[in-house]
Amino acid sequence: MHDTLLLFGATGDLARRYLFPSLRHLLRDRLLPADIRVVAVGRTRHDDDGFREWLREALGTGEGSDARALDDLLQRTRYHAVDLSDGQAIARELGQYADRPSVSYLSIPPHLFADTSRGLYAAGLLAPPSRLVLEKPMGHDLESAREINAVLREALDESRIFRIDHYLGKAPVQNLMALRLGNTLLEAVWQHQWIESVDIIVAETGGVEGREDYYARYGALRDMVQNHMLQLLALIAMEPPAALDADTVRDEKRKVLRALRPMPPEQAALDSVRGRYGEGVVEGRAVPGFGHAGDVETFVAVRAWIDNWRWSGVPFRLVTGKRMASRMTEVVVTFRPVSHWLFERPSATRATPNRLRVRLQPEETIELGLMGSLAAPEWSATELRPMSLDLSLSTAPARRIAYERLLIDALKGDQTLFVRDDEIEAAWQWIDSICESWARAGLGTRPYAAGSWGPDDAAPFLPPTVSNHGERD
Ligand code: BG6
Repeated sequence: MHDTLLLFGATGDLARRYLFPSLRHLLRDRLLPADIRVVAVGRTRHDDDGFREWLREALGTGEGSDARALDDLLQRTRYHAVDLSDGQAIARELGQYADRPSVSYLSIPPHLFADTSRGLYAAGLLAPPSRLVLEKPMGHDLESAREINAVLREALDESRIFRIDHYLGKAPVQNLMALRLGNTLLEAVWQHQWIESVDIIVAETGGVEGREDYYARYGALRDMVQNHMLQLLALIAMEPPAALDADTVRDEKRKVLRALRPMPPEQAALDSVRGRYGEGVVEGRAVPGFGHAGDVETFVAVRAWIDNWRWSGVPFRLVTGKRMASRMTEVVVTFRPVSHWLFERPSATRATPNRLRVRLQPEETIELGLMGSLAAPEWSATELRPMSLDLSLSTAPARRIAYERLLIDALKGDQTLFVRDDEIEAAWQWIDSICESWARAGLGTRPYAAGSWGPDDAAPFLPPTVSNHGERD
């Protein structure tokens, strides 16, 4: 493992909420190299002690092993205030850390990627085997993503670039792959002949307060669908990789992303809904609406089609929104009806299809919906009723922050859970087709009340487990 970590954006929100707490946990659990040193880089003026004080305040001292881990982290951390648009300043301040192989983690706005990577290159901090980790957003469209990739390529090759999608660091997301590839029962039916539709929903109760400017430029499609939701879709839909190494898995994900059907303008209103939350009540609290003047969506529902042999004709409904009724991330796979229905009750049209429902957060549950006569009166053994096979663990596993896993993998050099340049570009290509289609069709946003499940028009896109509107499509 590399044992020098340079953290750019060290006083930012992500570093305070996730990156430093992750480092603290990893130190507490002795998962980091014994000599690890952390070089925090930010814009705010601090000396080492001033930064350490700020960090202690930001993280909270804690007790026992947590308190000891914080002391350890602070002691290993040095701070540099550097203007990242000045490549020479980067080289001057940080060149001293090029004595050991390092990982530079850029949690900074993407317009600074180019200057920062040039500065790091000049400082010798990107010489092999050092690595670069980047936080999203990875561009705003295909063109800007390509520009970023080209700039990075000037400084180092793809095998040392680690693009974060923190959803890939979540253990329940990795379990999706384990479930579908580790079970004959699922392997046998994982294709269009047996699957009718797939729903992926990421509903959040939080709003966009404090990030209005970023959000007004991006909207829900670019903020959530381009990355997290398409990664979930790719893991569900990819061909089984021949091995679990980084490039084999990423090759398969890229093929799926490339097979996404671009959205023509005449389909925009049929295959998508954009929403924008107004005031309402979320979790018992009155909240204001999204106030920005532009027509940007805080909710999006898209019906995606994967034009390949396995998924021909199967809709993938992707739904995500801010300020929704409850927080949850869920995948629901709905199977086709059995080939011939023998039973009088319920009639074939009223039978509930088999469903695999995997809830990824906030709690982790797996449910398989089956039909059976167990619960029916015994004198009418042919009356079928829906039954649920519940695979939740009785004691929920304590999950690590996704960034803990990703930091370890970056220090080790394992790229499997990081996104490759061609995946990013394939995802943007499809997202661009939707933006263009919306613009040409003039598809604006529909209002929805905060605390609801989105605009009324979006009801047919919601997973059956949310809307309870039973059989559709
Ligand atoms: C981020 C988005 O990438 O993911 C946020 O920018 C969103 O808008 C967040 O809230 C959701 O992540 P999680 O882990 O809370 O589901």
